[in-house]
Amino acid sequence: MDLSILLILILLSLVVFAALFFLQSWTSPKTMDKIPGSLGWPIVGESFSFLSDFASPSGIAGFMKKRQHRYGKVFKTFVLGRFTVFMTGREASKILLTGKDGIVSLNLFYTGRQVLGPNSLLHTTGEAHKKVRRLIAEPLSVDGLKKYFHFINNQAIRTLDNWLGRTVFVLEEASTFTLKVIGNMIMSLEPEGEEQEKFRSNFKFISSSFASVPLKIPGTAFYDGIKARDRMYSMLDSIISRRRSGQSFQQDFLESLIMKHSTEGDGENTDDKLTDSQLKDNILTLLIAGHDTTCATLTWVIKFLEENPNVLEQLREEHAQIQSKRTDGETNLTWSEVNSMHFTNKVINETLRQSPVLPWLSRKAVQDFEIDGYKIKKGWSINLDVGSIHHDPEIFSQPQKFDPSRFDAPVKPFTFLGFGSGPRMCPGMNLARIEICVFVHHLVTRYKWRALEKDESVQPTLVQMPRNKYPIVVDQL
Ligand code: HEM
Ligand SMILES: *[C@@H]1O[C@H](CO)[C@@H](O)[C@H](O)[C@H]1NC(C)=O
Repeated sequence: MDLSILLILILLSLVVFAALFFLQSWTSPKTMDKIPGSLGWPIVGESFSFLSDFASPSGIAGFMKKRQHRYGKVFKTFVLGRFTVFMTGREASKILLTGKDGIVSLNLFYTGRQVLGPNSLLHTTGEAHKKVRRLIAEPLSVDGLKKYFHFINNQAIRTLDNWLGRTVFVLEEASTFTLKVIGNMIMSLEPEGEEQEKFRSNFKFISSSFASVPLKIPGTAFYDGIKARDRMYSMLDSIISRRRSGQSFQQDFLESLIMKHSTEGDGENTDDKLTDSQLKDNILTLLIAGHDTTCATLTWVIKFLEENPNVLEQLREEHAQIQSKRTDGETNLTWSEVNSMHFTNKVINETLRQSPVLPWLSRKAVQDFEIDGYKIKKGWSINLDVGSIHHDPEIFSQPQKFDPSRFDAPVKPFTFLGFGSGPRMCPGMNLARIEICVFVHHLVTRYKWRALEKDESVQPTLVQMPRNKYPIVVDQL
């Protein structure tokens, strides 16, 4: 009796498995046969090894390396419900990032789409995407950012004032610093006080809901994220209505977008106007896209400088020069000085080459197309492995060496992808550079520092950050 039940169960599961295999070979596209790689188990594909590598000390790089070793630079897999092709190389980079003729769109998982709202520029393509990019370009240009310089400079100085005599977790400090900057820039938020605290806590909830399972049940990270998003939106709503009624006026990012906002039909071209929800979705998008990336990069810069004393010395030289050129008692950093930090900018690029904070860029095929002789079908995910382009010795000689001078001459297009390339290239690049340059200036002219741990592990997040938050101790120079 017991035995027969067992037998039936075994038979049943065999039937189910056979059915699943059949289902997958039936649904898996014929064209995928030509692409090396394994689609893994039915239904789940290779999701488990993907997720476990994602959470491992070396992050997703491990998943890609193992398969590149086995199958070559292009391989297929089936993860998180999608047929996925990983690719690398300049050709793939050019085709995917140019996205000519609208062949690809940005690939966001369901959770991200829900949290950011339907009008985020991350979800739009073609003309709609261009329009938002046009509107944010001016306030994020070098000229447009000048008015935030004093805030950024003061905040960097104040952050560093508290670094003596204790263990400093650089990633945490960088996070507080960059969040204050973006809050002030977007809506003139004061760096201390209740509003700042609310803003900070809402932001943390939204940010941690990104990698969560999209279940809208109280207690889940997703639920908390959506709630925090709603609170953030009402905060923006009340600021917007105060601005509209003329009760307050500020020269910030929100103001510059409100001016480009559709209110009454004033006969002007509505092409350049945003609706309320376009405004809010895109402000949240800038916050989300700009925060982790900038504080991670600042942290990696400080880490690479410590590990490469020759580069640090050269960098100090640049900043000492800047100080020595100042005349009659002027001691404060100026806007034009920030824009003359050529070596520092090379250090930032070299940091992102060695350790790209977005190690892979993800796209979804909007139509069928061919790349490097491989046929890609509509609906597939295509991930561009940036790390291996940045470590290709044919493109960057001695790729393991931290050498900012490789940026002395302009690098070939579509090879350095620290800020991406093409129509989706990072619109916040100038802001990030200015924040990092200002912070690094005060850091290297005041302190020397020493890392407290040797640990190369990264956090299990999309943006690559040191897992230990990079603890250091500093000393007066
Ligand atoms: C050092 C800091 C930063 C790095 C390394 C970085 C990197 C990148 C990269 C690689 C992309 C392209 C993504 C892709 O092609 O799939 C991107 C896009 C983007 N970045 Fe940044 N970013 C940084 C800072 C910022 C800041 C400060 C902001 C906002 C103020 C920002 C806003 C955005 C937005 C909105 C996009 C999407 C653009 C689009 O789809 O058209 N980023 N960033
Ligand atoms: C750093 O990279 C950016 C983005 O590719 C590029 O525009 C810039 O010229 C580079 N800067 C230096 C100093 O190499």
